Amino acid sequence: MNGLPAQKSPMCFEPWYELNVMYNGRLACCCYYNGPASTFDLDRWPDLFSYWNGDFMRKVRSEVVDNVPEGSGCKGCVVFKYRSHEEMSQLFQGSPQDILSPAQLENRQRAMANFAAGKLEVDHVPMRFYFNFGVSCNINCIMCCQTPERPSHQTLDADRLLAWKPHMVKAETISVIGGEPLILPQAIKFIRAIVQDQDFSTVRMDLLTNGLNLDKFIDELSAKTHINFCISLDGIGDSYEHIRAGSNWSRVENNLLALKETAARRNLKWTVVTANIVMKSSLATIDKLVRWHIEHDIHPNFVDFMNFSGIEDTYFKENIFAFPDLLGEVPDWNGKLEEAIHLLNEKGWFGSADLLRKMKLDLITRLFSPLPNERQQMSCRKG
Ligand SMILES: C[S@@+](CC[C@H](N)C(=O)[O-])C[C@H]1O[C@@H](n2cnc3c(N)ncnc32)[C@H](O)[C@@H]1O
Ligand code: SF4
Ligand code: SF4
Repeated sequence: MNGLPAQKSPMCFEPWYELNVMYNGRLACCCYYNGPASTFDLDRWPDLFSYWNGDFMRKVRSEVVDNVPEGSGCKGCVVFKYRSHEEMSQLFQGSPQDILSPAQLENRQRAMANFAAGKLEVDHVPMRFYFNFGVSCNINCIMCCQTPERPSHQTLDADRLLAWKPHMVKAETISVIGGEPLILPQAIKFIRAIVQDQDFSTVRMDLLTNGLNLDKFIDELSAKTHINFCISLDGIGDSYEHIRAGSNWSRVENNLLALKETAARRNLKWTVVTANIVMKSSLATIDKLVRWHIEHDIHPNFVDFMNFSGIEDTYFKENIFAFPDLLGEVPDWNGKLEEAIHLLNEKGWFGSADLLRKMKLDLITRLFSPLPNERQQMSCRKG
């Protein structure tokens, strides 16, 4: 922990890539660190490097430099459950934008060099700032990992974060999430500031949303060329409305299609992708879900169910990875999953196809395994 270069390249890039700040002051390297993290001072003008090179970030960097020690929050990280370290490193090395400013390019070069040398104390700023503005939501998904944190009105302060502008304009991505960011006042204020400020023009904004309120914001958002919309679906039609209780499929579908139409009409470099949890209710219609994505040329991402205290009921009913016997309640699950994989491959979305293939193998293995061996929790949205 002395700032000296380590001997070999680290097994994970996240601690050199991301600063992850939660509504309740939890500050970490990513969403997945499953241990005590650092604390962000919600009431003070914060100095970025006191966190970015603080005790916690240097500790995590040292943990991933060599063999991750027992007791580290990186141990058994869910990120690498279905993805190799090489695949993840590609994400770090690829730029989300076609154009980067000179300051972004210089920061990127420094980040790569610091990562490759395993430096614990760094001279670059985060390539990604990730801000969770609170857990309030306009719907009530059956599996929501934030359920135990509600109600809470804690939030990040948009103005305080914007004080980091000199650093943030060197980043490549600023991610905004909640709860539902498009109902959280500080998130909306922050989004508007980023969208309207041309100094952020080459910084991509990631908006992670349930998509229900998007129609109210599409016009304003059109002022920004580089936005990645990640909209959580998990299903379409009835399956969607069962999982995403209180939402409305046709409104969300219209919003997704309106994003694509607006981007094409206004020549915006928007990307639209979806997030989908593979669980019992989504597996039952996964072939239809994939067909919908292909029809509309919207790329689907998949994750498995993660358990949290407060959603035990859903966990027991839906987590097919922890309870593979539940597969018996999904007629022809194997055929539907196979069809989804086939369609994704045919479309050329090999990464998503490969992930579903690995999940399928995992499910089959678990069906015949007496004791499931799974890390059941991640830490990002806990206090
Ligand atoms: C907590 S939501 C916040 C953003 C927004 N409200 C949304 O739903 O996209 C962020 C992501 O976490 C996922 N998520 C929620 N509960 C989960 C669980 N138990 N396991 C895995 N992912 C979960 C959601 O589906 C969503 O893609
Ligand atoms: S928790 Fe996972 S993603 Fe985060 S730094 Fe550790 S190994 Fe990387
Ligand atoms: S929309 Fe997002 S935050 Fe809201 S309940 Fe669903 S998963 Fe949770």
